[in-house]
Amino acid sequence: MERTLIIFKPDAMNRMLVGRILTRFEEKGLRIVGLKLQQSSRAQVEQHYAVHKQRPFYASLVEFMTAGPVILAVLEGPGAIAVVRNMLGATNGREAAPGTIRGDFGLDKRYNLVHASDGPETARFEIDLFFKPEELVSYARAPDRWIVSE
Ligand code: CMP
Repeated sequence: MERTLIIFKPDAMNRMLVGRILTRFEEKGLRIVGLKLQQSSRAQVEQHYAVHKQRPFYASLVEFMTAGPVILAVLEGPGAIAVVRNMLGATNGREAAPGTIRGDFGLDKRYNLVHASDGPETARFEIDLFFKPEELVSYARAPDRWIVSE
């Protein structure tokens, strides 16, 4: 089992798309093991996007991610990190394939609705940045035996 961090960005919040997008992850079979609404601090966003510090879009990205509340989720499932990245599609909604979340809902490279961890190390770092251990819940759902065979 793998865990990945998802952020519903301020554009998804303002466009009232969180429910529809979260439904896609649920329908895929992924389990929600953490979920919360928060107004992120600048410091938190700067830490989260530290790898992009030298990029020309960094300052506007921090502005964007602190412009309003976000919803954070930790999703769990076999191969969850790659599964979710594939479901999101390319960073730029204009290039994302139809059928992906960004391909279906987005037209922009900054306003791309959802962030998801891009690898196991990043996922661990990002989950620890936004969630305390006691905010994550391990549990089984009745249909799980029909979602994953082994
Ligand atoms: P995300 O996957 O969260 O990782 C970094 C974010 O920076 C990205 O989604 C976009 O929101 C934003 N981003 C990436 N590339 C660009 C770009 N060229 N111009 C503006 N914003 C960008």
